[in-house]
Amino acid sequence: MHVKRRFYAQILLLPVVCIAIDTKYVDIYQNITIECPLNQSNGIMWERDTRDISEKPPFITLEDGSLFLENVTKNDSGEYRCSEENSAVKYNIQVVVKTPPPALPFYVHPSTILAYLIWQLNGTGGYPITFFTAEYRLMNESNWTSIAPTHLSPNLRRLEVYKLEPNTTYAFRMWAGNKLGPGVKSEVINTTLHIYTEKQLAARLLAGAQTFDTRIWIIAVAIVMGTLTVLGLGTCLLLYQECRTGVEDEQEVIELVPNIILNPGFEGNMQADQMPADENCNNETPVRLNNNTVVQPRIS
Ligand SMILES: *[C@@H]1O[C@H](CO)[C@@H](O)[C@H](O)[C@H]1NC(C)=O
Ligand SMILES: *[C@@H]1O[C@H](CO)[C@@H](O)[C@H](O)[C@H]1NC(C)=O
Ligand SMILES: *[C@@H]1O[C@H](CO)[C@@H](O)[C@H](O)[C@H]1NC(C)=O
Repeated sequence: MHVKRRFYAQILLLPVVCIAIDTKYVDIYQNITIECPLNQSNGIMWERDTRDISEKPPFITLEDGSLFLENVTKNDSGEYRCSEENSAVKYNIQVVVKTPPPALPFYVHPSTILAYLIWQLNGTGGYPITFFTAEYRLMNESNWTSIAPTHLSPNLRRLEVYKLEPNTTYAFRMWAGNKLGPGVKSEVINTTLHIYTEKQLAARLLAGAQTFDTRIWIIAVAIVMGTLTVLGLGTCLLLYQECRTGVEDEQEVIELVPNIILNPGFEGNMQADQMPADENCNNETPVRLNNNTVVQPRIS
């Protein structure tokens, strides 16, 4: 294959008309040929949207004016522009290099003998995540222990690590994988909590007791006892009053009740004055009860 190598510096031309053309996807470590829509073999110029030209070795322009990128890495992702020499019209072609997943941000929430690993997805690299892997080791050892299973479900976001030692420092590392392979490993160091022995717990409780002021305790007891006494006396007084008024009212209550039941329309002036005895020696008047029953005077 005949390859023309051209060296172009980025020249700022004003005004520039940019026409977005296409997005090209390429897997990492592959080659890609980017075609320019200008249908001519000579005088095609390529440039990148980067300020640092020295970042990238000179582009390889093929015979037909296409750009050839060899063995691409993540850094080759970006916008490429082709144009005719001395033309203000540029064609933009976006290149996206697909990679294994980027580093997985995660944190460790330790307990005494277990720890939770909790993570988020920070991009997939271009292909869906197919697995997660988590490992741990003692800080002073070099062998990593895999947290089974080696390939965790891509839907998981949290994992428990068992059988850890209390008060011990561990290193944990995790990564995600897609069809291009395992991604960048990220590492977190954390220490498990220590277990208090019974002796330590007792010591802690006693430490609290020593600084406790007994005068506060006495005042508190006095306040509570005082309140209880006042409440008790009050209750007795109320009960005593209740009993006394109960005895006094009893008779009145007994007399009033029949009156109310027999004569709901009771009025004081309905009680007729004593009448002089009639020819039948009757000194009582007829009484009409509220159910219209007329009670006639007795005939003696
Ligand atoms: C990329 O192109 C080079 C030659 O330019 C070739 O040697 C290499 O095998 C190609 N790589 C792939 C993955 O096709
Ligand atoms: C990508 O670019 C960064 C800085 O921009 C550099 O540190 C890194 O080494 C480059 N990676 C590759 C694979 O060229
Ligand atoms: C935890 O470990 C450190 C040293 O690693 C030690 O100094 C400390 O006493 C331990 N604490 C407990 C409560 O065991």
